Amino acid sequence: MSAAAVFLAACGTGPITGTGGGTGGSGGGGISGPAPTYYKDVLPITQVSCNNCHVAGGIAPFTLDSYEAAKLKAPLMADAVTHKRMPPWLASKDCGGPFVGDRSLTDAQIATINQWFQGGALEGNPADAPAPAGAAEELPRVDLTKQMTTAYTPTTRDDYRCFIIDPALAAQQVVTGYDISPGSRKVVHHVIMYIVPRTAAVNKDAQDATPGWECFGGANVSTDGTLGAWAPGGSAVVFPANTGIRISPNQVIAMQVHYNTDNAVEADQTSVKLMYGTGTETNAYLLPLVADNFAIPASGVNYAHAENFPNSLGFPIKVWGFLPHMHTKGKKISLTSASNNECLVDIQRWDFHWQTQYFRKTAFNLSTTNSIRMSCTWDNPTNAVVRWGEGTADEMCFAFIYATL
Ligand code: HEC
Repeated sequence: MSAAAVFLAACGTGPITGTGGGTGGSGGGGISGPAPTYYKDVLPITQVSCNNCHVAGGIAPFTLDSYEAAKLKAPLMADAVTHKRMPPWLASKDCGGPFVGDRSLTDAQIATINQWFQGGALEGNPADAPAPAGAAEELPRVDLTKQMTTAYTPTTRDDYRCFIIDPALAAQQVVTGYDISPGSRKVVHHVIMYIVPRTAAVNKDAQDATPGWECFGGANVSTDGTLGAWAPGGSAVVFPANTGIRISPNQVIAMQVHYNTDNAVEADQTSVKLMYGTGTETNAYLLPLVADNFAIPASGVNYAHAENFPNSLGFPIKVWGFLPHMHTKGKKISLTSASNNECLVDIQRWDFHWQTQYFRKTAFNLSTTNSIRMSCTWDNPTNAVVRWGEGTADEMCFAFIYATL
């Protein structure tokens, strides 16, 4: 394992609390029935599975939350759902799930949107509209909101900087959910929250007058654990029920932000929301799996690499979630149980822009004699060998697993 073991995470997924998608469409039944309409057939799908992002102020570039807007985009919508580009959800349905908050549409819902488009994108009767759905992709409750104390403008192309996010706790808390909002999506490449001793972080920060400190590949101070992460595509994360990650008054969050200035150079002031539990939750850990022993040959196509990660803790653990991560040359990443090949999570079309954390509804028990096997596949269109590294042009075969005892 390299020193970069606790590097990047894919992160924050959608409505982890489980309201987002998978149920909607009332239509999609027969081609022989009446042509689907927006209010009766399409809105029940889009309000759950699209409109948390495709609204004014949402992260998507256009809205879909009115008939006029959806009609305009009907051909694009049909194409995007048919080819499963939208809603963004990379994990294969036939592996490891059902995952909490699965955003993907059912075949019937995809058929409904297609039939609606082919039938002329009819409006229908507004009286058929479903009751409005609650806001998904947000924390159910926010107990703390903290922002970087001052804005920071990256100074190099790949600038790794750690900032103190201080929950200023009077007593220990269990973090049961978080939501990281990058201040500038143009420059923030990823964010990882490390739990670190307060004194060490404060001393490190005081070493120079610039906000935060340089921290490549970790927090660059002694680290007690990892709390969570954000990467493109991430949103609020709620941990599985009755589990959480503890943080004490003598600890702070060292928030590592990887800035990449290829698209812009601008100031960032990233903020974090935390949700706390009751204090009785089972302690959870984000454990990094680092398969870094690869060299993707120049012009390599479908180059594959796999490593086994034995449970060497000496006791069985319950594995609840996976945050798979690769960079832009990644094609596929999957995790399996080595003992019987049980599929745990499988991404057949890796997309750097939609990194998400996948939580199971029941834990996978990893015995002391079993291993998790992680496999990655890349295409390397460059004429240089590509190895593990933090730079955007380097590659990774990485996952965090979210585990409890
Ligand atoms: C989690 C947020 C999110 C959800 C949910 C979502 N979208 Fe998107 N969508 C985006 C973003 C961001 C883009 C622009 C970047 C991109 O194309 O990935 C986009 C782009 C699109 C595009 C244009 C690009 C393309 O691939 O054709 C279409 C069409 C689209 N979305 C339709 C939908 C529909 C239909 C749904 C629901 C069934 C949906 N989206 C759900 C965030 C979302």
